[in-house]
Amino acid sequence: MLQDTINIKINQIEESRINQVDWDNLPFGKVFSDHMLVMDYDNGAWKTPEIMPFGTVPFHPATSAIHYGQSIFEGLKAFRGADGEIRVFRADMNAKRFNESAKRMCMPEIPVENFVECIRKLIELDRNWVPDREGYSLYIRPFMYATDEFVGIRPSDKYKFLIFTCPVGAYYAEPVKVKIEEYYTRAAEGGVGRAKAAGNYASSLYPAKLAQEKGFHQLLWTDGKTHEYIEESGTMNVMFLIDGKLITPGEENDTILRGITKRSVIEVAKKWGYEVEERRVRVDEVLQAIRDGRLTECFGAGTAATIAHIEKIGYRDEIFDLPALETREFSNRMSRYLTDIKIGAETDSFGWTMKV
Ligand code: PLP
Ligand code: COI
Repeated sequence: MLQDTINIKINQIEESRINQVDWDNLPFGKVFSDHMLVMDYDNGAWKTPEIMPFGTVPFHPATSAIHYGQSIFEGLKAFRGADGEIRVFRADMNAKRFNESAKRMCMPEIPVENFVECIRKLIELDRNWVPDREGYSLYIRPFMYATDEFVGIRPSDKYKFLIFTCPVGAYYAEPVKVKIEEYYTRAAEGGVGRAKAAGNYASSLYPAKLAQEKGFHQLLWTDGKTHEYIEESGTMNVMFLIDGKLITPGEENDTILRGITKRSVIEVAKKWGYEVEERRVRVDEVLQAIRDGRLTECFGAGTAATIAHIEKIGYRDEIFDLPALETREFSNRMSRYLTDIKIGAETDSFGWTMKV
């Protein structure tokens, strides 16, 4: 295992590519900063991480992650504040969730402080890549995959951990339309839904494509057993304001990703005096609340998605129009408040940001 103080090798690029970036047209996840971090695991131990020029990674055709899917990832962001400081949001939480995913997928864990330090060092080096415009940030993608060159089913002995970063704007450029899915399943109890495992996203592509063909951005997944309870969306957790209460599916089952944005919304909402219910949420309860006008807000919460207003919900052959965005006092205020913490315009009384 790595030590508390971690030695990171640095192999810096000769010339930055930053002048080639078209900051006015920044597609999400397609522009990559100058450097990446790579750390190998072998013989039961992590080796010294190395920051190197961003580039391709050669792989053996029998690389086991490609065949058997031992692959996990994280997503977090760094922000440039009005004060010029760079802040990373809740990196320790991503580190912990990464290790929970690793455990479930039979992969080696990385000590939280080492994970965070790898991020800190990489952002420090590529700090010019953190955009300075409102609504933009540097998306950070840590991930790990199995690298044994082997045909056969068993946990790999070797792994690669990498981090790269991308300057990004909004993931959803407009309010989101979601469809309640009643046939396909994202995650079954006892499965890997709680882990941020690559395969979860692969298996959701086809059902999401069917919904996209009908004009929806994403699915609203329901539980795999009865399809009567709402779980989450493809890239975000889902939250409702019903009768003035903040309601969101609980994490008691292992089918939902334990979202850090959602957790942050809950902590702030409690501080603001809102009643919060984390529990199973029935589909028909939500639909009835829309019909009765008791549902006043509905939004997704995620690192890439941020606070994403949901404007329409499709259910069977019906489309439910949700309240106008400008009436959504809670989520608009929350979105502003969280942004202000991230850019240093609001006091970070929760201790959620790490300055780089
Ligand atoms: N649910 C899924 C399936 C996701 O991919 C994400 C994004 O990471 C989330 C929820 C939201 O999690 P977080 O707020 O930690 O980004
Ligand atoms: C994130 O919000 O970080 C995600 O992982 C969602 C998506 C880009 C896969």
